[in-house]
Amino acid sequence: MHSNKLLIICMLIVRTFTVKGNRCTIWMIMSITMHTHAMQRRAEERIPGTTQLLSKQPDRFAPGAWPGYFSRAKGAFIWDLDDNKYIDMSIGGIGANVLGYADHDVDAAVKQAIDHGSSSSLNCAEEVELADRLIELHPWATHVRFARSGGEAMAIAVRIARAVTGKDLVAFCGYHGWHDWYLAANLGQDSLGGHLMGGLDPLGVPRSLKGTAFPFHYNSLEELDRILSVYGKQVGVIVMEPLRGEYPRDDFLQRVRARATQRGIPLIFDEVSAGFRLNTGGAHLTLDVEPDVAVFSKAMGNGYPIAAIIGRDDVMQYAARSFISSTMWTERIGPTAALATIHKHERLRVGDHLIHIGRLVQAAWRDASAAHGLSIRVSGLPPISHFSFFHEDSQALKALFVTEMLNRGFLASTDFYSMYAHTEEHVTAYTTACYDVFGVLAEACAADDVQSRLRGGPATTGFTRFA
Ligand SMILES: Cc1ncc(COP(=O)(O)O)c(C=O)c1O
Repeated sequence: MHSNKLLIICMLIVRTFTVKGNRCTIWMIMSITMHTHAMQRRAEERIPGTTQLLSKQPDRFAPGAWPGYFSRAKGAFIWDLDDNKYIDMSIGGIGANVLGYADHDVDAAVKQAIDHGSSSSLNCAEEVELADRLIELHPWATHVRFARSGGEAMAIAVRIARAVTGKDLVAFCGYHGWHDWYLAANLGQDSLGGHLMGGLDPLGVPRSLKGTAFPFHYNSLEELDRILSVYGKQVGVIVMEPLRGEYPRDDFLQRVRARATQRGIPLIFDEVSAGFRLNTGGAHLTLDVEPDVAVFSKAMGNGYPIAAIIGRDDVMQYAARSFISSTMWTERIGPTAALATIHKHERLRVGDHLIHIGRLVQAAWRDASAAHGLSIRVSGLPPISHFSFFHEDSQALKALFVTEMLNRGFLASTDFYSMYAHTEEHVTAYTTACYDVFGVLAEACAADDVQSRLRGGPATTGFTRFA
């Protein structure tokens, strides 16, 4: 639909500009074949920040090259608005599409839910079934609440924990979304800057929240202890991703658990990204440590909006005592999609596949870069892998990598999220392309002309994860 509309707009402008000179005419004819990039320009004019999610801003990949918008997606494939087909070896819907795009089984369940009415004046039974299923997977928990996105679910979890203890201060580790409680860490200082989100402006976050949220690094018990000793009894909750860029060392998680228990404050595990990657459920199941609350979203619904806050009885009772309520948390599609996703995830041992594919991709990066003498750092759990260039112009190299991979039919970046739809054949083809492309990059570095090979400049920055 929008493609046709754009075509008409472009042709009208071609006529207007033709009388004025050739240069404009040529530019507009080009744009007829570049609906995808024209859509980005429209979005830049209409949508502040261009996208709803920072991580999907096209310029974060390769300005002028990354397609940005899709017309359809199936399995591991994505088609852009110009009908170019790519194998997606990039962010997998930023971790949401753990099975792959338009998964037949999940979509069939969702379509049936739509046919039967996706919302009504009554509640849907699927949310109760999903609550039971999550408790089955995490027997330490007894109660569940639902929301529809990761950040809001984390805000709910923090609200509940603060209600339990009556204490406002939060010690946290990791990324937890866009809400006030979290961005408060950046008020009047750049606490997050040294940690995970340098430069994210807390404009609009009440200044009175300054000094309410304190970050500590993963595996740094000393930093947590410092927060606990400086702010002592005022700390009401410890929030952390149980796993992200590295594995815990020296019983880190068990020792954090012990501190929370000693002080009688809830420990919240944010499993929004880590959950449903290593197994069917929370990463903490693999790590043998139990929180008081765990939060899931993303992979749990294979791209459909759903989030769950699960927890122990004594903590979760506060979810009813504090006012936590929203109309759209009652619709039926989210829980239906989650039930179908979890069922398939468990049946096919999806976690094992994600790890296998992720390891192959990490090996491809290491081998291809070494073959061409390029220095990179590979990090992350295999299903959520990342590499960075050791180079003064690393963002330009990233954009060149992205551009050259696009030329070979891959959506690829320095982040990779495995999907069940990825096959070894996809990875083999991707590995061959990586060898080629790292060769091009090495050549560009040697000739010192990386920038001049780019269509639109280096990849933009701004979001570095807390590892
Ligand atoms: C660990 C973690 N928590 C919270 C969030 C926020 O989730 P959402 O983007 O669904 O609001 C994210 C998103 O990347 C995340 O990785």
